[in-house]
Amino acid sequence: MRHTKIIEVLQSDSLGESYQIKGWVRAFRSNRFIILNDGSTINNLQCVVDYENTDKGILSKITIGAALSITGILKESQGAGQRVEIEVTDLEVLGEANPDEVKKTILSPKRHSLEKLREQAHLRVRTNTFGAVMRVRSKLSFAIHQYFQQKDFHYVNTPIITGSDAEGAGEMFSVTDFDFNNLPKTEEGKVDFKKDFFGKHTNLTVSGQLEAETYALGLGLVYTFGPTFRAENSNTTRHLAEFWMVEPEMAFYDLEDNMDLAEDFIKYVINYVLENCEDDLKFLEQRLTKVESQKPKNERSSMSLIEKLKFTTAKSFKRISYTEAIEILKNSKPNKKKKFNYIIEDWGADLQSEHERFLVEKHFKRPVIVYDYPSKIKAFYMRENEDGKTVRAMDILFPGIGEIVGGSQREERYEVLKQKMENLNIDEKELWWYLDTRKFGTCTHSGFGLGFERLVQFATGMTNIRDVIPYPRTPGHADF
Ligand code: 4AD
Ligand code: MG
Repeated sequence: MRHTKIIEVLQSDSLGESYQIKGWVRAFRSNRFIILNDGSTINNLQCVVDYENTDKGILSKITIGAALSITGILKESQGAGQRVEIEVTDLEVLGEANPDEVKKTILSPKRHSLEKLREQAHLRVRTNTFGAVMRVRSKLSFAIHQYFQQKDFHYVNTPIITGSDAEGAGEMFSVTDFDFNNLPKTEEGKVDFKKDFFGKHTNLTVSGQLEAETYALGLGLVYTFGPTFRAENSNTTRHLAEFWMVEPEMAFYDLEDNMDLAEDFIKYVINYVLENCEDDLKFLEQRLTKVESQKPKNERSSMSLIEKLKFTTAKSFKRISYTEAIEILKNSKPNKKKKFNYIIEDWGADLQSEHERFLVEKHFKRPVIVYDYPSKIKAFYMRENEDGKTVRAMDILFPGIGEIVGGSQREERYEVLKQKMENLNIDEKELWWYLDTRKFGTCTHSGFGLGFERLVQFATGMTNIRDVIPYPRTPGHADF
């Protein structure tokens, strides 16, 4: 007999039917009620044992964390809290969990801080919160593929090990097979990367964009969705050293088209989880409401999680130029009263997350797209505007998150791109293949990158990005 997932049993109307279920014990009450979860849903299945007729040795092994196989009859439940339950006819302990040892872990039934849960990230997925977050994460991931596939985008896998720095920001992890205690040196005494595995110095990718561009200029519409790496020493609730990024790249799209696509895309995937993750979102909403109630009144969100998600998909995102954004920020209360950590004085200043959040949460009260940023604060590949000082860049800013998307129309003019690279000391020899695309049938094209974990944060209401990826990598942390 094949066992049935708990999500199916809970929806079943076949009272009197026999089922086999496998899962882990969440609680065992009064020597009678086994609360079982198998990861298929946030909801547990109550299994009732006839304890007088059950072997004491077996009963003693029904402890929190143990894996069980249960066969029993589906019954209408007498108790409150569940529609149906299982009356156990046969029970097998598949994997025991010693209660004295469980007590020392986060599986023990009491409140554990998120920090504590992070230390036992291999067990935290067995809690309600992490079960819910990881199921939503999985659904979001599926929705992303579905969105682009329905629109006839081609999924391309860009390399993870690269010989170039896409963002030109230099925050990269090296990849090598050198023996660090015996490094080959050149005559000048420098490390000789010619002797390294790839015959040159290589890194983990910070973005698949440049390679995706070359594919868009042949396949038309493409997207990558993979892990990216940044060796930036940012200890914030929004930065990871290893995160996943979705990067669509579109031939013949200008910045307008790019913004339209990004907005439509985000709304689609949020709608998808609203429709497909109802139980998990309800649980996460209650959780967030509890968290919010512990904050001072003026810091509390005026909307519940689900309200916030629905609101985001219903309203159009506000679009403003960087210049307009600076004007608003310059004249804002927190700027005048010097409440910002970074006071906005002049045009050209980079927007910090406090500014982004002011625009979204206080000023416009909805997602905002800022476009046409100063060239000086953006990457080399963005298309220069005619004003000679701004580029066709766009960032999408979200409540509680700040920047969730960064994108641009790409500089398609060979001479202009070459000049921009030269100005920034980017070696033409490293990116000859990228420049080639501007020589052979160049055209207007655009793309963007969405930080997947920031999207999961928004959808689940989790405050810290470390709590929306199974095994977070941050400065000083690469356990598991
Ligand atoms: O703005 P970024 O750096 O843009 C790029 O990498 C472009 N090449 C994308 C493109 O146009 N194809 O990063 C894009 C997004 C950010 O908006 C943010 O959501 C996320 O990636 N991101 C991070 N997420 C988690 N941890 C980090 N350290 C992140 N850095 C960027
Ligand atoms: Mg950015």
